[in-house]
Amino acid sequence: MLITNIKQLIGIRENPHLLRGKEMAILPFLENAFLRIESEKITDYGLMKDLDLTIETNDIYDAKEAFVMPTWCDSHTHIVYAGSRENEFIQKIKGVSYEEIAKNGGGILFSARKLNETSEEELFEQAWNRIEAIKKLGTGAIEIKSGYGLSIEGELKMLRVIKKLKNKSNLLIKATFLAAHTFPSEFKNNHQGYIKQIIDEMLPIIFEENLANYIDVFCEKGFFSITETEQILEAGKHFGLKPKIHANQLHCSGGVQVGVKHRAISVDHLETMGNEEIDCLKNSNTIGTLLPSAAFFLRMSYPPARQMLDANLAIALASDYNPGSSPSGNMPLLIALSCIQMKMTPEEAINAATLNGAYAMEVSDEVGSITKGKLANLIFTKKMPSLAYLPYSFGENLIDNIMIRGNFQ
Ligand code: NIG
Ligand code: FE
Repeated sequence: MLITNIKQLIGIRENPHLLRGKEMAILPFLENAFLRIESEKITDYGLMKDLDLTIETNDIYDAKEAFVMPTWCDSHTHIVYAGSRENEFIQKIKGVSYEEIAKNGGGILFSARKLNETSEEELFEQAWNRIEAIKKLGTGAIEIKSGYGLSIEGELKMLRVIKKLKNKSNLLIKATFLAAHTFPSEFKNNHQGYIKQIIDEMLPIIFEENLANYIDVFCEKGFFSITETEQILEAGKHFGLKPKIHANQLHCSGGVQVGVKHRAISVDHLETMGNEEIDCLKNSNTIGTLLPSAAFFLRMSYPPARQMLDANLAIALASDYNPGSSPSGNMPLLIALSCIQMKMTPEEAINAATLNGAYAMEVSDEVGSITKGKLANLIFTKKMPSLAYLPYSFGENLIDNIMIRGNFQ
């Protein structure tokens, strides 16, 4: 297929690499461009003026001045969950905090009770509908975590649902094992009992059935301590799972340092960051993944994106789609939030949500940029005056069409 009349072809990279600091401000594009696709993949691109349409034999799709860019790589989500938690949403409006809700058996524990009561088929159905909905908003690759099972059967059920999603969906999907999301009530005073279950009973089955790519821990005051986090990451490593961890969401809890020490692919959240944490990330290959829709939804302060970019860090943006702190996987809205609230430029935000997101889930060989040989996973926008119009006109759906593996959806 030949796509013609692209107003701007955004995110062109011949030899992509993980972007850090100042590099993130540059989003290479071609004005008045064409793009060629063969069997799912991008094979060529260039300027319209260099194209001789009289000798073209391919199918031609006229993009009619759309901006065309790579689909979003959402590298941190929890979209497999049962039901919803709008009751807590009301409680929070009335002044109860996220931590208080959790302490009273709500929050993650509420979702865990629901999930354990829900059949695998029903769970799959709910997650499938969410994936199909975010695909229409431009998501082409997604990481999904377990962590609402908190029991052997529950965690395995979640991971098997993710495996089924991988097999059925045309999106690229990565799975993360997050049994260490919180302690189930029966292990409230017996942390080692639950950790033993994770290590001795869950991990071997996950390894055997090849159910996960990564291991995650909610390293946080009131959840998993540094020592407990290290114990779990070590065990995960033994079973071939690389760490991607929840760090520094509610407190400056040492999560960043633990992640870097264990060569985590990414440390995610980072609402509470000091200079020490920034320095620690600076000297590592670990990506700082920011989840500003969680900060927005919980009315917390946003991660210090500008400071992190000035320190030459590699930043990714992800939705954290989950029932408790970010019941939305809307990446265009997330880009707008990042520009408005964290003062990222549109170019920085788009790079963070595409190429760097691809690195944060190790799918950069296939997606994240307009590169020959990568999958034709593309967003076609409606007519708009400039790229900056996308976050500027926040909340407006400017996506006209989505292509996944060379096919319009
Ligand atoms: O990434 N912080 C921990 N986990 C999720 C929220 C989970 C929930 O509240 O259900 C997060 O924000
Ligand atoms: Fe999360």
